[in-house]
Amino acid sequence: MAVRPIVVWPDSRLREETKSVETVTDEVRALYKDLWDTMVAYQGIGIASPQIGVPIKMFLIDAMVATGEEGADPVAFINPEIIATGNETDKSDEGCLSFPGVYVPIERPSTATVRAMGLDGETFEIAGTELLARAIQHENDHLTGKLMVDFVGPLKKRMIKRKLAREADYEPDQAEI
Ligand code: NI
Repeated sequence: MAVRPIVVWPDSRLREETKSVETVTDEVRALYKDLWDTMVAYQGIGIASPQIGVPIKMFLIDAMVATGEEGADPVAFINPEIIATGNETDKSDEGCLSFPGVYVPIERPSTATVRAMGLDGETFEIAGTELLARAIQHENDHLTGKLMVDFVGPLKKRMIKRKLAREADYEPDQAEI
């Protein structure tokens, strides 16, 4: 188990194509633990493998957000697939560990259902609303190389790039997804 450095945008590893997991091996379980440690260290509520430089289709969401269970292990979503989203949308500020200190208002469907494989190798589905729906979509985006800056115009994108360059060595202090 180890806290791994967070890959910060515009690092190209955040755009890398990710690979599916065939079976849950010790390597996959070790990746889960590193993601968990890193998410906790940086106080995120979700984290995706490319954010620690590993191009594998897996993300984690904090148990409180994913299932409402306090103190439970984060939920692993392996080879996730969003199988349904609602027609209604919500616009809300999003943060991301790969964009420290940056918040962007993003409009997304307010409900989302994801199908994924768990660490036990079994397929499961979770239907999310509100923060969970947003977290599912945000983390799933990471696995397809889509990032918060893809939702903003060129001017705002430039401002974000400048801000991140200025604060290259940051200490995270807020919950970010
Ligand atoms: Ni993110």
